[in-house]
Amino acid sequence: METGTQPRTQLSESLMPTLPGHHYADPEIFASEQARIFEKYWFAAVRTADLPAAGNFRTVQVGRESVLVVRDRKGNLGAFLNVCRHRGAQLCAEPTGSLRNAVRCPYHAWTYGLDGKLIAAPNLETMPDVDRSAYGLNKVALREWLGVAWVCLADEPPSFSETVIGAVTARLGDAEIIDAWQIDKLELGKRITYEVKANWKLIIENFMECYHCATIHPELTEVLPEFADGFAAQYFVGHGAAFGEDVQGFTVDGGAGAPKLETVTDEHDRRYYAITVNPQVFINLVPDHVILHRMYPVAADRTIVECDWLYAPEVVASGQDLTKSVELFHRVNQQDFDACERCQRATLSRSYRDGGVLVPSEHHIGAFHEWVRTQLWPDELTEGAQFDTVM
Ligand code: FES
Ligand SMILES: [Fe+2]
Repeated sequence: METGTQPRTQLSESLMPTLPGHHYADPEIFASEQARIFEKYWFAAVRTADLPAAGNFRTVQVGRESVLVVRDRKGNLGAFLNVCRHRGAQLCAEPTGSLRNAVRCPYHAWTYGLDGKLIAAPNLETMPDVDRSAYGLNKVALREWLGVAWVCLADEPPSFSETVIGAVTARLGDAEIIDAWQIDKLELGKRITYEVKANWKLIIENFMECYHCATIHPELTEVLPEFADGFAAQYFVGHGAAFGEDVQGFTVDGGAGAPKLETVTDEHDRRYYAITVNPQVFINLVPDHVILHRMYPVAADRTIVECDWLYAPEVVASGQDLTKSVELFHRVNQQDFDACERCQRATLSRSYRDGGVLVPSEHHIGAFHEWVRTQLWPDELTEGAQFDTVM
């Protein structure tokens, strides 16, 4: 035992170890996660409805790369590395905006079509040997699902159906169930962007368990009484947490929300489903809306979380007051992120050098830890790298 540190406690069967504290704070480990997780898996980059017209773009940090997502003249979304093929200037510095017909590099004016093709460059005609088709923007794989453009930087992206859709299947028992919410047709009622001073893994771990619900989520446990028991009701495949008897809607005071989405069946009415899609998306389904979280990890100790509240188009168009509906999960977010920040501040304490422990209702988080370790150190761990998709 080193002076001033705690000896590693022998764990009982009820307790499993977490990751060591420095895994949440070490910039080198974060850099490995950027390379081996965020640049390898499908990453929910942008809501497609945020880019409605040709030329609309958004730049998104994915791992160590800036990715430009842009809608072309044909209406298709494309994703490209945001780097000029001439001398490497970053093309679009703004997080979002609109291009006219092309992406023009601000340095020497190489100009690319909205489909990424090199269409012009000063003096290009004096270089007839240059094959301009070889100097288009480098493409990034893109898939649209649930109204989201998912991008992947891997040379050979993992199967979208196994990783992204598979996470939904694992949670709901059948991926087609989510179709009832028609998420791609919903409209934005509210977006709140949170800057969380915590490691992305703390945010995922927190979302995966409900042991904390009774302590920090008074409003949520009023609406979903089974969450007060501390056991992650989401642990059971296909189970949705039932609304309390007197609860009318998923709102901060349990009062009525919007009408149930027409295509959501009675079986899923008055229930809440939470889904984690590895490594940065949470989907929350309730009868009248969807709450979609996308995490953008920016440093070992900092994560931007963009949270969208999505409703039926007619609800948004009606101008209905959604304040109480939004307020419930906004409070949950604040309560959760405060807790994550509280943990982050202690990650480098000698007390947490070896990490902490998981109680039985949190044991499924151990599978997430193993999944992370397997991505970072594939030679050291070979089995059991399942990623549980429970709250
Ligand atoms: S770096 Fe882009 S045109 Fe020169
Ligand atoms: Fe929570």
